[in-house]
Formats: sequence, structure tokens, C-alpha cells
Amino acid sequence: MKNKRILLIISGGIAAYKSLELIRLLKKSGASVGCILTKGGEQFITPLSVASLSGQQCYTDLFSLKDETEMGHIQLSRDADLLVVAPASADLLARMAQGRSDDLAATTILATDKPVLVAPAMNVRMWNHAATQDNMIRLEQRGILRVGPDDGEMACGEYGPGRMAEPEDILAAIEKHFAQNKPLAGKSALVTSGPTHEPIDPVRFIGNRSSGKQGHAIAIALADLGADVTLVTGPVALPDPLGIKTVHIETAAEMLAACNASLPADIAVCAAAVADWTPGKPLDQKIKKRGDKSPPDLKLIENPDILATLSKGPNRPSLVIGFAAETENLMDAAKSKLKSKGCDWIVANDVSEGVFGADENTVTLVTSAGAEEWEKAGKQDIAHKLAQRIAAHISQPQHTPRLKSVLS
Ligand code: CTP
Repeated sequence: MKNKRILLIISGGIAAYKSLELIRLLKKSGASVGCILTKGGEQFITPLSVASLSGQQCYTDLFSLKDETEMGHIQLSRDADLLVVAPASADLLARMAQGRSDDLAATTILATDKPVLVAPAMNVRMWNHAATQDNMIRLEQRGILRVGPDDGEMACGEYGPGRMAEPEDILAAIEKHFAQNKPLAGKSALVTSGPTHEPIDPVRFIGNRSSGKQGHAIAIALADLGADVTLVTGPVALPDPLGIKTVHIETAAEMLAACNASLPADIAVCAAAVADWTPGKPLDQKIKKRGDKSPPDLKLIENPDILATLSKGPNRPSLVIGFAAETENLMDAAKSKLKSKGCDWIVANDVSEGVFGADENTVTLVTSAGAEEWEKAGKQDIAHKLAQRIAAHISQPQHTPRLKSVLS
């Protein structure tokens, strides 16, 4: 941890007293620790105790003229290698999820371009509340890291998840973050995600139910392993992941252009659910009902196949991965897509059972060597596993992971 700069943000909660121990452990491990104490945090510990332990000024005020001239809040957020929010109260998590900037802590988190690790601490009911869970999922989708909360007896007398992780465990999570090897450092990756919308007229489009959750999670997982990721996404209700170059497109043609513009890349993962057909040039005016009950005569043309274009193009990434979203004959379709699209791997998933929009997925990884069924898991876990596989392949391309041979 030598030379690592941690900005510790302490919000209001009884667990704030444990953050004093965290400061001590971090200092002992060689890190330098700057601190922000929220108004809530000041109800439990004092700026003086924080400053005494950290050996640095403890910042508390967004509008302190003195602090702003010495070290503005933007500077504060950029000068650290990692922001650690411990304890992260339900209120601060909610404000982070909303992108608020109503105190120094929230403003610094909003302004940072560095990774953020949160250690939630709150009453069990507050942690289990749908609002807090939604906020946490949203934050994790943006790439925010989390340690805890632990199960146990709470200061309020209740029992369950909500206790802040122990300072030793927070230190371990911080050390893991820095120690995490970055096997994809120096590699570039292109990920497509979400649906495409093909406009029919100014108010209607052809689209599909893809939420982009799996594609976005893959972009985050590859970036976590050190890859320089470009995410090309169709219209989704997800935030742009922190620190990932995100290109927003609407149609398949725009997606193809954005993908081509991001080449060359070492890795391409096409997770987008691209509309197969488009009306081509949308009509200038809204199509009106004709009065004779006959439907409009829509002429559709086939969209370019982005995965096949990338796989067969002159700038082919060294590893190209596609998805096969099927409602029947999963393996046959996956095998034939592997051949027809010319990609290296297919991640096959059965989308007949509400995968679109869900947080979990069941997939089978199909390569020319065989297929491997993965257990049902969260989309983030699947993304992480796939990123690990990609990293293993990139470092040893001749070695294909142990696969059950079903392709013969
Ligand atoms: N794909 C693509 N461009 C398209 C269509 C699909 O890049 N115009 C990619 C998807 O991102 C996915 C893979 O091809 O990685 C398979 O997509 P899927 O929708 O399962 O299959 P299609 O090729 O569209 O074929 P079909 O709809 O007939 O199953």
C-alpha cells in the first residue's frame, strides 16, 4: 500500500468510530489517508480525532473558502488513487445514486474519476429496503465497488445484514483492489450492448426487449481487468459505466459505424440485440390509419450483421465473441451461428424465460472445441467469468479452456 493515496469519506452512522481504526490500519500499511467527514459523521466522531490519526487536515465543508483555495473539492477527488466511503449510510448511497452534490462528500464522489469503494452501514430494515437495494444495484452497475455489509447484532438491537464490514476486512478489500492483477492491461476491447431502435416514422420504431444489463456488465468486467473498453450501446435505461468510453447509438447502421470507428481492438464482444430488419429511411410524417382497416405496407430491409462484419473484416480483433439469444434449439443455433458469423466464441442463452431485463442469466459458452454450460448466475458474475476466460485466452491463445465436447 506504499504510495497509495486513499480519500476516506466518513458519513453519519455509529460505525463511524470504526473508521478511526481503519485510518490507523491504512496508515500502518503505508497508505496516505485524506479524510472527509460529513455533518452526520461529525455527530459520531470529531474532525480533530480524524486529523490526529490521519496526520492530514480533515475536510468537512463544501463552501469553505480556505479549503477551496488550498485544495478544491475537484482536486481532492482527483488526488486520490481510491475513494473509500466507510461507513456509507443509506442517505449517502441514495445521494450517490441520484448524483447529488449537496455536501462536500457527495460533490467529491460526483466529481471523481477514480474508483470508489463503499462499506455500507445501516439498520437491517434500511439495508433490506427496496429503495436502498435499488440504489446499491444502480451504483454497482456504474462500477462502484462494495465491501459488506456484515450480518450481526446492530447498535439498535436488531439482527441481520447492515453492520459495516470490520476495518480489517475493508483494508483487505482495498489491498485486493490494488493487488488485483490487470491481465488485460494494454489491451483494447469493444463491447456492444442493448437493443437497436429502427425508426419507422417520427413516433414509431422497431426494437426489442434487451435491457443492456449483460453487455454493460461485460464492459465493466473487462475494464476491471485492465482493458481499455469502448462500449457501444443502443437506447437503455442504464447509467454510463464509470471510466468507460461509452458511445450512444440508435440504429444498427449507427452501431456498425461506431464499432468500425473504435477499431482496431484486441477483443470484441457483441452482446447487443441488434434489430434484424429496418425500414431503411424513416418516413418524415407519422403514418396515419387508412380507414379501410388495412395495415401500412412496411418494406423492411435486412440490417448489416455487425458481429459477422467484425469477424470477417480486415481489422478483425484477435478474439471475437458473439451471443446467441434463442427461444428453441439453443445449441444447434449457437453452433451454426459460430460458423456463419465467423466469430471465435458464442455465448448462448435461452431467452424464452424472461432473461430480458432480469438480473440473472443462464449461458453456455460455445467454441470450436466444445461447449460448457454455466450455472445460472447474476449477470455481473457471468460477465466476470467471461472476462476471466477472455484474459486467460488472450495470455495463452493456443490454450482453449476445458470444454465438454458437444460440437462433434
Ligand atoms: N448481431 C449483430 N448484428 C446483427 C444481428 C446480430 O452483430 N444485425 C449479433 C448479436 O450481437 C449477437 C449475434 O449476432 O452477438 C447473434 O444475434 P441473434 O439475435 O441471436 O441472432 P441473429 O444473427 O439476429 O439471427 P436470428 O435472429 O435469426 O436468430
